Amino acid sequence: MPTFQPVRGMRDLIGEEAQAFTCIIRKARETAERYGYREVITPVVEPLELLSAKSGDEIRQRMFIFKDLGERQVALRPEFTASIARLATTAFKNEPKPLRLFSVGTVYRYDEPQRGRYREFWQSNYELMGSAKPEADAEIILLTNHLMASLGLHGYAFKIGHIGVLRGILSQENVDEKTQNAILQRMDKKEYEAALKLVESEKCREMLKGLLEIKGNSWQDTVEQIKDYLADYEKARQAAENLGEVLELVTQSVNLTVTVEPAFARGLEYYTGTIFEVYIPELDIALGGGGRYDRLIEIFGGDSTPAVGCAHGIDRIAIALQMQETSFDAKKGKRVMVVYITEALKPIALKIAEQLRTSGITVEFEVMGRKTSKALEDADRRKVAFAVIVGERELKDGAVVLKDLVSRQQSTVPISELLEKVKG
Ligand code: HAM
Repeated sequence: MPTFQPVRGMRDLIGEEAQAFTCIIRKARETAERYGYREVITPVVEPLELLSAKSGDEIRQRMFIFKDLGERQVALRPEFTASIARLATTAFKNEPKPLRLFSVGTVYRYDEPQRGRYREFWQSNYELMGSAKPEADAEIILLTNHLMASLGLHGYAFKIGHIGVLRGILSQENVDEKTQNAILQRMDKKEYEAALKLVESEKCREMLKGLLEIKGNSWQDTVEQIKDYLADYEKARQAAENLGEVLELVTQSVNLTVTVEPAFARGLEYYTGTIFEVYIPELDIALGGGGRYDRLIEIFGGDSTPAVGCAHGIDRIAIALQMQETSFDAKKGKRVMVVYITEALKPIALKIAEQLRTSGITVEFEVMGRKTSKALEDADRRKVAFAVIVGERELKDGAVVLKDLVSRQQSTVPISELLEKVKG
């Protein structure tokens, strides 16, 4: 009989890795609470049409698409944003703005599997809907910074740009939207030559080349240089101006390492404003990314609603934590194993286990029917802190034996004092 393995690009998370994920998800959820984001849970399977609108070729070509038994064209979600935008046009249609929503779960992309790149991966996702103001963009960046810092990551840096810079130039040079999208896809992958080949006008090509070369001494300097460079391109210049406003707000609130990329582009087509990614020096893949998308909700049939959001790759954050050897507080409480000497004592032993659990203690109950010595050996192997041994003799006095498996000392403890003793 062959043994089964997970599907290529998908993983079992076990042991410490599972613990790391749980911890990251907990921090992501705490961050959502801290910033006032309400959690929503949406389906993993969505209509193909919803997921493919404005996601961009890059993602469209990598979706898990299938027909369900009712002949519906569906797909596994490659991200959360489309589902949340759908909610904004349905359940939350009449909700007062701003609307802040958080989601966490698995998403699916048929990427080429490698370290940090999987076909099933986890994202924590935050969307802020209803504000076109720079403080909304700033909030999403600050929230990402908060999450990274609260996880104990260090040395991370933000790469920031504004999609309006490239789109502004291309639109003014009469490049149609489809070609713009194709150019931006290549720019996102740093395939600049291939991108420039798609530009017909020599003037436009030269403009883009010049933009790529801008490099300032600070983010302020870079933004100023971009603004000067775009003097004849009003829309693009306004985009750079907006980027400056967002960064001003962010950097006045926290200390952040920021690099402005003049020709920054992202694969997702729905972005209309600021775009960013966050990296640590040890890894050349982004730990998270996001940006402003002011037209998606309207495309889905909702009212015109400006929005900005981001998603963090939990699989990659777990790798980053490991690389930086960050030991996050798994807050492992002391574990207790409850064993009984004779069959007749099983019910009372189980009752004691339940009482401890209700009081917040992690308890493993002996379910293998082993001899006490064997059960204790196993408890030792699993690094359990205490064994509670329920025996006839002690029970007569309303007591049990509490054995400290680290110091190997044991004593008889009245059941009424057990909790106190275990908590130490
Ligand atoms: P994204 O940049 O496509 O944005 O993905 C966000 C993060 O997901 C990436 O920065 C990365 O950490 C992680 N990620 C992407 N692909 C993979 C993969 N194959 N394996 C492991 N991790 C991966 C979005 O998804 C947007 N929906 C973000 C957003 C929300 N924009 C506005 N609102």
